[in-house]
Amino acid sequence: MANLFQSVRGFNDVLPADNAIWQYLHNTAAEVFAAYGYGEIKMPLLEHTELFKRSIGEATDVVEKEMFTFDDREGQSLTLRPEGTASCVRAGLEHGLLHNQQQRLWYAGPMFRHERPQAGRYRQFYQLGVEAYGMAGPDIDVEIIALSARLFRKLGLQDLTLEINSLGSSESRAAYRAALVAFLQTHEASLDADSRRRMLSNPLRVLDSKVPATKEIVKDAPSILQHLDDASRAHFEGLQQGLSDIGIPFVVNDRLVRGLDYYTRDVFEWTTQQLGSQGTVCAGGRYDGLVEQLGGSPTPAVGFASGVERLILLLKAQGTALPSAAAHVYFCTLGEDGERAARKLAEQLRDQLPALRIVLHAGGGKLQAQLKRADRSGASVALILGGEEAAQQSIQVKSLRGDAQQTHCNWSELSGTLAGLLNLKA
Ligand code: HAM
Repeated sequence: MANLFQSVRGFNDVLPADNAIWQYLHNTAAEVFAAYGYGEIKMPLLEHTELFKRSIGEATDVVEKEMFTFDDREGQSLTLRPEGTASCVRAGLEHGLLHNQQQRLWYAGPMFRHERPQAGRYRQFYQLGVEAYGMAGPDIDVEIIALSARLFRKLGLQDLTLEINSLGSSESRAAYRAALVAFLQTHEASLDADSRRRMLSNPLRVLDSKVPATKEIVKDAPSILQHLDDASRAHFEGLQQGLSDIGIPFVVNDRLVRGLDYYTRDVFEWTTQQLGSQGTVCAGGRYDGLVEQLGGSPTPAVGFASGVERLILLLKAQGTALPSAAAHVYFCTLGEDGERAARKLAEQLRDQLPALRIVLHAGGGKLQAQLKRADRSGASVALILGGEEAAQQSIQVKSLRGDAQQTHCNWSELSGTLAGLLNLKA
């Protein structure tokens, strides 16, 4: 056999069994977003490279080494979006949604980063994201966190920790940066090579290092919370008060910095211990400077994005009851009369029971072979209709799960019988 093509490394197919879970996740998220008055926006997957350089930051891992960037046929540099926030601001500005307005938006879709693939980390991954514009106070930060908490609750996820921090204003962060660099310089010889490089280009990221020796050193680093300006401190206190008011537990983690440069003030992450090193299932924060940086008027903004694959890994790891893609009913037919009657009946059933998932056997063959297929399909009920039943306008109904019972009924009773067996509404 010739060598088969394989998907590009880090780019995965999602097969029907998992797609049922994706649908469920998407629909649940869409319901929660709507419950808070967020409207869906769809942005393109390709943007001008400059957009991400200007927003995410030249010295970030994402821009330095993770973007899928290429020149198109006209020679312009384009990039597959590594995240949604920059595109959302671009779209908001392009369509006049942001100036002097409040907006609550959400999006879902694939993002692309050339990272080293491993469980929970892919080169194409999906995010569910939320962005809110034009609201400067901590109330909206509380709102989007409450929204994320509700989503995770509704999905039945457990043991998630909400970590929060404040990165302050760009001025207070500059002061902190200087204090941090001074501290890191006194330990320069003991830092890993990557952190030594970052110490100069993006020192806050050193706080995020996974290298044990560096982690040990940064334990004693100065805290960013000690360097906050008064307004950012009050804002951060407002966030904590708001979360407490609605009973959302949180942990203040002054080592929480984000990998993208646009953040200001409050940032947060939802983390789990159950997904190894890829334990962040949702992350976000405020980015009050970005709209102006991309050419708009000063506009406060806050948002988050949650990784769909990680949510699904966690749902599975926690053994949450998940929807199945399998059909309810597999319809076996025998002989031409049986086939023709079954075709009509199956269409009638789809009219009568819109939630019913019914597979009508195709391709003929013996009953035994058809029943084997029925069993493998995951259906709970097999219907059997041959020439004899067609003549009598009756049908055999065979339960495929539990104690396999078989009964007969008339065509006129069939939808009622199935609705009862499968617990479906007409
Ligand atoms: P981020 O932290 O880069 O933030 O990504 C958000 C989430 O996307 C992560 O917490 C994770 O669940 C998921 N994720 C990121 N990279 C991967 C990957 N390679 N494979 C699988 N999942 C991944 C942002 O993207 C910001 N735009 C979030 C935001 C929105 N901030 C404000 N508004």
